Amino acid sequence: MTRVLVLNGPNLSRLGSREPEVYGYANHDDLVALCIAEGALLSLEVEVRQTDDEAQLVHWLHEAADASTPVVLNPAAFTHYSYAVRDACAQLRAPLIEVHLSNPATREEFRHTSVVAGVATGTIAGFGVDSYRLALRAVAILVA
Ligand code: DQA
Repeated sequence: MTRVLVLNGPNLSRLGSREPEVYGYANHDDLVALCIAEGALLSLEVEVRQTDDEAQLVHWLHEAADASTPVVLNPAAFTHYSYAVRDACAQLRAPLIEVHLSNPATREEFRHTSVVAGVATGTIAGFGVDSYRLALRAVAILVA
């Protein structure tokens, strides 16, 4: 069974209460359950982690690089400015799917830039928690 790491960046632990009109009403535990259930349908062993800490996220990406583990990554605000996260993503050897709950392209100007997109296999944005289901499907297709 292929292992997949789903990594969530800062403020995503606040899902459900954080700007629900933008990010929806599902909380992070709901998102974890959805990812594990979708993974089971796709024969993927999914582990979901969340951190507000850039260094922690970089360390998890190094772990995924060393183990050639596919990654579904919502870098959250790091998307827009973290060259450290971008450089860690560039070291991955298995597929990297960048995901966003909202569609950053329709939002404030600063969200229109992703420093991660250029090193991702692809990006899925704007489908709420279903962005993660679609991202896991992309991983399943890519590793088949
Ligand atoms: C986000 C979009 C980012 O612009 C924002 O900083 C987030 C969440 C999303 O999933 O829509 O924290 O990555």
